[in-house]
Amino acid sequence: MLINDHMRIKRMFRGFTRWTGDHDLAMAIGYELTAHATIEEEILYPFLRQVDARLADHAEEEHAEVKALITRLQEMDPESKSLRPTVLRLKFDVEAHVEEEEHKVFPLLAPYKQELFDMGRQMVTRQQELLQNRDAPKALTKLATSNTGWGRNSSGRLDVANAGW
Ligand SMILES: [Fe+2]
Ligand SMILES: [Fe+2]
Repeated sequence: MLINDHMRIKRMFRGFTRWTGDHDLAMAIGYELTAHATIEEEILYPFLRQVDARLADHAEEEHAEVKALITRLQEMDPESKSLRPTVLRLKFDVEAHVEEEEHKVFPLLAPYKQELFDMGRQMVTRQQELLQNRDAPKALTKLATSNTGWGRNSSGRLDVANAGW
């Protein structure tokens, strides 16, 4: 589920660099990243801390840097010339962080199968809550629900039926 998020976020960054690179997409990336960072910080990282406290500190520091960049983007004038370089900086930082997560953190936690399963369920629920409770930027709804295991059920709410759980 977290790797799905990573792929979706990377796709959004690629969309930003290859095509229009507009403000809506930058806001959608910030929104998506914030939801992802929140579920990791609330659910995964406390468990990581029990296994390897230094790695948890490091991951949280990187999240803090990412969130500072997102805040900068949100406060920026939509027409600002700094928008693009700031998104590119964010892309660079996020890619490095994701790389470490997938190659250090996830393999380290891989033996804790039952805990991962329980945390996975909690994270799916929490993420749904986060994505429903706020006003998601328009671009997110399109991008976040395409080919990611997330779908909309008949009442239009996000459904995790295809998320692999
Ligand atoms: Fe992370
Ligand atoms: Fe992550």
